[in-house]
Amino acid sequence: MEKPVSESFLQLASRRRSIRSFKSNKVDRETLDRILEVCDMAPSSGGLQTFEVYQIINEKTKRELVAAAHDQEFIAEAPLLLVFCANASRSSFKYGKRSDLFSVQDATIAAAYAQLTVYALGLTAVWVGAFDEKKVSEILGLPKEHRPVAMLPIGYPNEKPSDKITRGPKDLLHVVK
Ligand SMILES: Cc1cc2nc3c(=O)[nH]c(=O)nc-3n(C[C@H](O)[C@H](O)[C@H](O)COP(=O)(O)O)c2cc1C
Repeated sequence: MEKPVSESFLQLASRRRSIRSFKSNKVDRETLDRILEVCDMAPSSGGLQTFEVYQIINEKTKRELVAAAHDQEFIAEAPLLLVFCANASRSSFKYGKRSDLFSVQDATIAAAYAQLTVYALGLTAVWVGAFDEKKVSEILGLPKEHRPVAMLPIGYPNEKPSDKITRGPKDLLHVVK
């Protein structure tokens, strides 16, 4: 095997964990810009970047999102809250119905890139997918083409994650002969 181009990336991706408790430190604009720069370079369907990123600042809106996400309180506690949305309307002219799936994939990939970038910058994030999609759309006043896919509460970690149990790499692979 060739020597990895970035051993540090491999370590980072393997060590990333979800944290649900944040220090009160603010997240500065430069950090947000760096996250967005990486999202902007993420692979996307046809290079059409069929996703949107919302930053939620208003405290009342954050509280409403907590309620829409089954009272996951840490969402409002994070100093930076991003909501990744799919936007199929950016590619439906090219991919038709398939753009519904592609846009969810684009938003998912962008959010995953954001999550890794957050970790690389010394902060932490947790993926929040358990929410009432309709309620989140209403709270944020989203245009109907923007479908919320994931929330990312982001901040400086205030707890250590417990040990992680996984299936193990061998269990993931199915070889088709
Ligand atoms: C699609 C998806 C939805 C998730 N939704 C939630 C959620 O609503 N609340 C939460 O606390 N964690 C959520 N998570 C985080 C997972 O619980 C977490 O990634 C998993 O337990 C593995 O732990 P790790 O991220 O520390 O490796 C979600 C993760 C994914 C990928």
